[in-house]
Amino acid sequence: MNSLYIQGRNRLEGTIAVHGAKNSALPVLVASVITDGECVFHNCPDLSDVRATLNILSWLGCSNQKENGTVVVDSSAVMKNEIPDLLMRELRSSFIFMGALLSRTGRAVMCAPGGCEIGVRPVDIHLLAFEKMGACVIREEGRIICEAPKGLHGAEINLSFPSVGATENIMLAAATAKGTTYIKNAAREPEIVDLANFLKLCGASVFGAGESTIVINGKDKLHGAEFTIMEDRIVAASYLAAAAVTGSAILVKNAVSEHISSVISVFEQAGCVFQCEKNAIRIKAPYRLNSMKTVRTMPYPGFPTDCQAIVMAMAIVAEGTTIINENIFESRFRHAGELNRMGADITVTGTSAIVNGKSRLFGANVSATDLRGGMALVLAALSAEGDTKINSAQYIDRGYEKIERDLALIGAKIRRDKIGKPQSEAG
Ligand code: UD1
Repeated sequence: MNSLYIQGRNRLEGTIAVHGAKNSALPVLVASVITDGECVFHNCPDLSDVRATLNILSWLGCSNQKENGTVVVDSSAVMKNEIPDLLMRELRSSFIFMGALLSRTGRAVMCAPGGCEIGVRPVDIHLLAFEKMGACVIREEGRIICEAPKGLHGAEINLSFPSVGATENIMLAAATAKGTTYIKNAAREPEIVDLANFLKLCGASVFGAGESTIVINGKDKLHGAEFTIMEDRIVAASYLAAAAVTGSAILVKNAVSEHISSVISVFEQAGCVFQCEKNAIRIKAPYRLNSMKTVRTMPYPGFPTDCQAIVMAMAIVAEGTTIINENIFESRFRHAGELNRMGADITVTGTSAIVNGKSRLFGANVSATDLRGGMALVLAALSAEGDTKINSAQYIDRGYEKIERDLALIGAKIRRDKIGKPQSEAG
């Protein structure tokens, strides 16, 4: 049992700092596989998904050490190119090891990422691209075998959807392929730019990251490099939402406003006022939030699917009705039922949610079902009257480094219990 206890309706104040980005740390750690030297990563968050990635690296023969926020990976002796299902299933983004292993060893064997709590995760776009680059793909008893014994070659790849994972996978495969690869309709997320920056430090030739077409000229070999991982824009948005739902004013450090422009715009509709500095965002929330115009999740620079649950936690206490359309994943509203247990009024129909804001929520015994849905419960608990117990808090640990420590620093009454204590002891 891993639970968070939160006593709600406390005003927050002060400064909170954002840690390194999970969605950047995972791909750059995986990218170390295609280098033949030592890679040093600073600002690496201490998250369960990062630990799972390091476990896979160890299995493959890449020695690694983690101390404070720095991880050192040495991939000079990659020994294996098959990943056991048990390690793969520890995290969902593990499939980008496919591109890295193909690039480094000409072969990769792993299970397909299973259906998960937010929807099925197909990999057809990834596999089509590898085939276009000369790989032979075989599906056998739930495993995917990808082979390119003579190496991969560059290709023009048109993505049918700007998939983040597929773009990363192709970038890793293309970095050492023979010739030039064009990724068209590529994902444009800031984490893609971070991955490109790391690859370039390792000697790769990558142009256009952050735009719709990425061009990669394959190199024979890549060397190790020292790299600082970007800040986590979803964590930044989550902390801003903590201020929004409690009517507070706080300063969020290590946050780049350009990375979350679409989120700031929605928060502004809710009545929040921002002051953005180079690497920090100050937010002042109204006593009660306004409802927002229809929120539609979209690929970057649109409103991120990772912030959908967070904005729902704002909409449930806003004045008026907000409609939320989830366009990236088909079942990413599982938090709605738990929020309703706290007094929210959310009706989900397919990929849309109608949220009628309530003036008050009540503490309850609820369970996190996924990472961002879990964060939505934390936000709802901060704004609710009374005490909330959030079970299965380990989901939240996949993306937030010691959430209770950070939120307590700005005045939240929150604590964790790994055994379980009655709700009345929250705070
Ligand atoms: C997605 C999000 C990313 C977020 C991450 C974790 C987008 C575009 N991507 O990245 O911002 O951080 O989840 O929550 O918002 N798809 C296929 N075939 C494929 C690959 C993907 O049909 O081969 C579909 C998926 O089913 C999904 C969509 O494309 O509907 C987005 O997938 P993708 O960007 O690949 O997902 P992640 O990389 O996990």
